[in-house]
Amino acid sequence: MNAGFPLPSYAVGPVAVGPGLVLAPMSGVTDSPFRRLVKRCSGEHVGLLMSEFIQIEMLTRGQLRGAIRMAFHASERPIAIQLYGADPEMMADAAMMVEDAGADLVDINCGCPAPKICRRGGGAGLLRDLPRLAALLDAVKARVSIPVTIKIRNGWDDGSINAVDTLRVAEEHGAAALALHGRTRVQLYSGEADWDAVADLKRRARIPILGSGDILTPEDARQRLARTGCDGLMIGRGAITNPWIFRQIGEAARGGAVFAPTWRDVVEALRYYAELLAEHYPARVPPGRMRMMLSRLLKTFPTDPELRVRCLKMPEARAMLDELERVAAATGVIDAPTRAEVGEGGGAGDGALEEAA
Ligand SMILES: Cc1cc2nc3c(=O)[nH]c(=O)nc-3n(C[C@H](O)[C@H](O)[C@H](O)COP(=O)(O)O)c2cc1C
Repeated sequence: MNAGFPLPSYAVGPVAVGPGLVLAPMSGVTDSPFRRLVKRCSGEHVGLLMSEFIQIEMLTRGQLRGAIRMAFHASERPIAIQLYGADPEMMADAAMMVEDAGADLVDINCGCPAPKICRRGGGAGLLRDLPRLAALLDAVKARVSIPVTIKIRNGWDDGSINAVDTLRVAEEHGAAALALHGRTRVQLYSGEADWDAVADLKRRARIPILGSGDILTPEDARQRLARTGCDGLMIGRGAITNPWIFRQIGEAARGGAVFAPTWRDVVEALRYYAELLAEHYPARVPPGRMRMMLSRLLKTFPTDPELRVRCLKMPEARAMLDELERVAAATGVIDAPTRAEVGEGGGAGDGALEEAA
């Protein structure tokens, strides 16, 4: 019998995040349809949802794409909207729009590795310019009343690890919480995330600290929490292939049976996702989003190695799901459990890098 383990919770200003299990922001992935999919699969076990990052200019110039990215459904709350950019006044203007839209938190991206973004001083570029990060925080804090959080990497490269310095700036300039993805900018998604760095920040911090990187199973979650004592876990790629992961962690933490999704569950969940995509976007967007999902998920499809390639060539989301269901039923795996796996962050679907092109 599983003995269970304690799950943390934390508060940022008036916003309670319980449990401290957070859907990580992922460009090209964590739009409103995906977040609602996660809510449907994991329910109350996911404590906070985060948007994909939004370029501040997209909001301040009134671009429709920015408004679509910022849109969320009431059922998604509490929700954090993540912004990226380098100009303090424009960041403050964008943050006001986030507050006006009714979001619970605004988060500043200090970790995106995309060259185009870093070159302009945003994303992980902020790790090399902490005075600018301080100015961004001051400007935003002066204009909005919702809590402001930040998400960082360890540093730019192995020679400039500065998560502790960044934490100091965050605390002195009013950030309400900090999430650390324990890789450097230069590392992108290679190697393993450094959870000792999360533990070190947690020991030093006065604000809640969240850790991010490589959590795929309840056991990964248990180990990271025990090792770091951090206030919350952020889960990204693990949730793409397994939107039930927060539920599984919650059930394991309670010491109960852990839900094991089958391919039938996957098809059913993706049909719901396809419906939401069709409601949320113009018709040209859903097939690409579904391809992103299936390109990761079908790497572990057990019986037909060609299925993934065939689905990815299809022009319609519904046709892809019909084909998945047909093959899963015909080859007898429709009621077999799926297997979670995460690839590198780059490649198909890593919008953060695509945007850099
Ligand atoms: C496709 C993709 C897009 C991402 N986009 C963002 C983003 O917009 N903002 C951000 O702070 N991090 C972004 N990240 C990083 C994740 O939030 C997370 O920190 C990282 O993937 C490590 O966690 P994981 O191993 O659970 O995926 C992205 C990661 C991936 C894989």
